[in-house]
Amino acid sequence: MTDVRPTTEAAGGVLQTLFRSEQGGHEQVVLCQDRASGLKAVIAVHSTALGPALGGTRFYPYASEDEAVQDALNLSRGMSYKNALAGLDHGGGKAVIIGDPDLIKTEQLLLAYGRFVASLGGRYVTACDVGTYVQDMDVVARTNRWTTGRSPEQGGAGDSSVLTAFGVFQGMRAAAQTQWGAPTLRGRRVGVAGVGKVGHHLVEHLIEDGAEVVITDVRAEAVERIIARHPKVTAVTDADVLVRTPLDVYAPCALGGALNDDSVAALTATVVCGAANNQLAHPGVEKDLADRGVLYAPDYVVNAGGVIQVADELHGFDFERAKAKAAKIFDTTLAIFDRAKADGIPPAVAADRLAEQRMAEGKAEGKTARATAGQ
Ligand SMILES: NC(=O)c1ccc[n+]([C@@H]2O[C@H](COP(=O)([O-])OP(=O)(O)OC[C@H]3O[C@@H](n4cnc5c(N)ncnc54)[C@H](O)[C@@H]3O)[C@@H](O)[C@H]2O)c1
Repeated sequence: MTDVRPTTEAAGGVLQTLFRSEQGGHEQVVLCQDRASGLKAVIAVHSTALGPALGGTRFYPYASEDEAVQDALNLSRGMSYKNALAGLDHGGGKAVIIGDPDLIKTEQLLLAYGRFVASLGGRYVTACDVGTYVQDMDVVARTNRWTTGRSPEQGGAGDSSVLTAFGVFQGMRAAAQTQWGAPTLRGRRVGVAGVGKVGHHLVEHLIEDGAEVVITDVRAEAVERIIARHPKVTAVTDADVLVRTPLDVYAPCALGGALNDDSVAALTATVVCGAANNQLAHPGVEKDLADRGVLYAPDYVVNAGGVIQVADELHGFDFERAKAKAAKIFDTTLAIFDRAKADGIPPAVAADRLAEQRMAEGKAEGKTARATAGQ
């Protein structure tokens, strides 16, 4: 037998994060292990104030278990805010599976993970995230009733990027209304950084609305696919060049951290609205944007179309019903800009306050007591 001393340092780190840090306040964190399949997972339920916790499963080769727990805590907290402002009767949750999906993802492991989701009895509803796909959710769903993001063949809603792009477009229309007095991008120059699943649908909405579009992507084929369909779209070499290109709107649709000290200083656009998660590289960027007169549409508000889609799946997926809900991102984004203006705060802060208000109202209404899906 090897060393069996308890790893008190690591456990202390987790407990510190869970119960004592500013990130604290999570309702429940479940550490899961299935030795037969090699599954190690963390399921974090941040809040069920508005209903069952909903959020995807990230499958990622974390450097340590502590890092995985930290990520699950952060991501689940973010989902509480996103779901609250999306108008969903769902709290925030998230799961992470530790390991390289290319090396350890097996049917056996996904089934074991699904059994842990089942053990929560509907307090947590899962879906896809980085490293998991609709086909994986089809497998996870075989061992529980609380899995969304499945393939259409299995009764699921499939790829969520269509409604995510639609929601981002609604947020952008709200920003145009606030900045220029009309809810349209007609005649505006919009730069889209990252034309993958969401970005390329967003480009279609923009062209249909009469915008001039400039794109960039690290994958040449993604750029070529768009130019082939829309020869008037222009492309630049990278995101650094794009932010410096004369633009009305900048739409980060690739990775997080797009808005940092350098990009904000270089930005020519006066509206930022895109699909990427965690666009603000560090606290304070939201204020720098506001100080420069740039209207920032909070990422988690405008990119909620995907979670709206998977939440709809729980009731038997209806695309038009989900689309109608995603269309409300327009009103929510407008309300955030109004609140930001009234309170003299950046929109990102206004969004957090509105989400916290909705969660507090949910708690007062006693939704927590009914917080299990499908019961
Ligand atoms: N798919 C959804 O429903 C959804 C929902 C909410 C949020 N998001 C977020 O939106 C973003 C895009 O998601 P997606 O599903 O379209 O992913 P994707 O992987 O299909 O597309 C991302 C694109 O960005 C490109 N890219 C990567 N690094 C780049 C860089 N440095 N410069 C320019 N291009 C770069 C990639 O080549 C790819 O084409 C992600 O941040 C994701 O977390 C997606």
